[in-house]
Parts: sequence; structure tokens; C-alpha cells
Amino acid sequence: MTFTKEITNRLRNHRTPFYYYDMDILRETLTIASREASSRGFTVHYALKANFNPVIMKTIAEYGFGADCVSGNEIEHALNCGFQPGDTVFAGVGKSDQEIETGLRLGIKCFNCESIAELKVIDEIAARMGKKAPVALRINPNIEAHTIRHITTGTDENKFGIRIPELEEVVTVMSGLHNIVFRGIHFHIGSQITDLNPYRNLCTRVNEIYDWFTDRGLEPEVINVGGGLGINYNEPETLPPFEQYFNVFSTHLDRKIRSSISFELGRSLTASCGSLISSVLFVKEGASETFVILDAGMTELLRPALYHAFHLIENLTSELPVKKYTVAGPVCETTDTFGKFISLPETQRGDIIAIRSAGAYGEAMASRYNLRSLPGSLYSDSI
Ligand code: LLP
Repeated sequence: MTFTKEITNRLRNHRTPFYYYDMDILRETLTIASREASSRGFTVHYALKANFNPVIMKTIAEYGFGADCVSGNEIEHALNCGFQPGDTVFAGVGKSDQEIETGLRLGIKCFNCESIAELKVIDEIAARMGKKAPVALRINPNIEAHTIRHITTGTDENKFGIRIPELEEVVTVMSGLHNIVFRGIHFHIGSQITDLNPYRNLCTRVNEIYDWFTDRGLEPEVINVGGGLGINYNEPETLPPFEQYFNVFSTHLDRKIRSSISFELGRSLTASCGSLISSVLFVKEGASETFVILDAGMTELLRPALYHAFHLIENLTSELPVKKYTVAGPVCETTDTFGKFISLPETQRGDIIAIRSAGAYGEAMASRYNLRSLPGSLYSDSI
């Protein structure tokens, strides 16, 4: 249980808003994820876009995870936090020349490439630097992930990856690029996926595509099936179903490729350990609802405003009878709202509010809109 009375009292001594990380939950999550993956011979890269807080990153690196980066800055940051270049991959639909140079200079494991144009640019830069660039092809498997539309990535209508009908041409072009070393194939179908069926469909597609490559004399040594495992935002204390998730892959992927499988997990590793802690500034009557105005808003946690995402909200300091409130932030935008007509114990100015399951895509997506300060962070090990 994250918020005992004792912890709440300690949190009261710090200026809100800030992120609070329960490091025991993080370590428990990492222990289970790494055990379930390694017992099946799988490798996991942490997708640091979910949370690049150095304390969180260093802890994840200690558990032996690799890093999945999407910018040159992320690559440098991952290495500074203890991840190894040989366990670092670089994905993204728009890598700049400078970022490609960073990846080559630091000797990363692999570039996940998304187009012929990108392959040609990487080849050119590698030639100029006298390097060979290890490359995996990111293939769009055209699989519906049944998640929120905004974070689906593996279907034909979005910008990510190489479409299957283009593969023949990509392989032909690649065979003429002498500074590219083909390492493998990469897939990612979306994020916050809670129905495991799309992953079964992905396995079928991966088996077919693997055979397609070997038929052409190309042996993918790296088969990266991406990330996306969802969490239960209604039950912040429940950890993600790592065992069932990895089981889908050990059951449905062909035996011959199982030892080459890697994953890129972000949210499932860090979401549960983090909460956004905020104070109630004002309680305000509207025409048809009572507003609780917090000192945290979309600048600290963007997900509700951007995706209508749900996060459980708790009042840590009131035990009064429950009432219905609309919980909003201080930012000058109507969408700066965390939840409408939600049940909270009667709430007053000065109460402490926890917005749960915010350890992924929370602090990482904070902004300085309205010239607000970025949120700080506190850790259960050191409060
Ligand atoms: N690999 C690739 C290529 C990705 O694009 C992503 C996430 C991941 C791995 C990690 O996915 P995860 O395991 O975290 O689901 N800001 C959104 C989520 C965007 C996800 C972007 N890509 C949110 O707050 O829900």
C-alpha cells in the first residue's frame, strides 16, 4: 500500500506538485518482468520515453535491461545512467543526421529503420564516419491493437514502419548499401494494450515474416517485437500481467526464433510506481458541478487532456463523506481536467491529492506551458 498515514505526513512537508516514486513497487515490477523474460530466454529494452528520470533509469539499468531510445539525447542519457551501448537500440520515424552520428559514434546495438530513404542516409553517414551501421527493419505488421486510437502504431494508416508490400524493394535496395549490416526485424503495434489477442496475431505475422527473410538468404538475429503491454489504471496496486504476456510469445512464436526475441517495454515497467502529488488550491461551485482546483495540471500530467486518459484520483488527507467533484488544474485550457464527477471524500483547500499510475508518460511529458515550473520528484527510499 503506497500511501500510509506516515508517508502522507512526510509528503506534506514538501512543496507540491511533485512526482512521488515508490521504489519498492518499481523494484518489484522489475524483478517480476526480468524473471519472466529471462526464464524464457527473452531480452527486454526499457523504452525510456516513458520516464527518463535518472533515479528511475539507474534502477532499471541495475536490473540488466537494455535501452530503447528515440532521440540522440535519449541515447546519451541512457549511457550516462548506466545502460550499455551494446544493449541500446535507436528507433524513430525521423532520425536527424546528427542523431544518427551520435548512435554510430557511441556504438549502439542497432538502428531500427523505417524507410528506404532512412537506410540510404544511414549508409551515407556510416561511410563518411568509416563505420558499419547495424540495422533492423521496422515493419508495420498491419495489426489492430485495440487500444486508444491516438497510440495505435501498427496499422496501415499510420506513419510508422515499412509496409509489408514494400519489403521486396527495401531488401533489394539494402543489398546495395555496403555500410549497412542487416541485424534483424522490429515491430511495435501500439501502447496500453490490455487484450493479449493482438499479440497472438503479431506472433503469427512475425513467424511468416521471419520465413520470408530466411527464404531470401537473410537471417534476422534480432527479432524485436516492441512494447505496449498495458496496465490497469483502475487498480494502481495491481502489477501488469508479465507472465501471461511473455507466455503469448513463448507459445505462439516458432521455436527456432524464440532465443532471438527482444521487447521494448515502457509503461508496464514504470507506470505503477509513480503518483503525481498535488494540493487543493480551491473548491469552487460551478453551474452543475463542484470543481476541485489543484496546483497540478496538464503541464505536470498531460495524458487526461491529450487522450482523455483515466487516472485514479485519491484524496490522501480527508476521511469525510464522499461527494462528486470535477478535478481540474490551474492551466488556462478547458481540457486541463483530470476527471469529471468523480467520487472523493469531501475536499477542502490544502488537502493532498494523489493521481495514481503516473510513473509512465507523466513526468516525461511535463511542459512549461504558462511558464510553470517543471514538477520535482521524491522517492520512497529518501523521504
Ligand atoms: N517501442 C516503440 C517503437 C514505441 O513507439 C513505444 C511507445 C514503445 C516501444 C513503448 O511502449 P509502451 O511499452 O510504453 O507502451 N504517451 C502515450 C504513449 C505513447 C507510446 C509511444 N510509443 C501515453 O501516455 O499513453
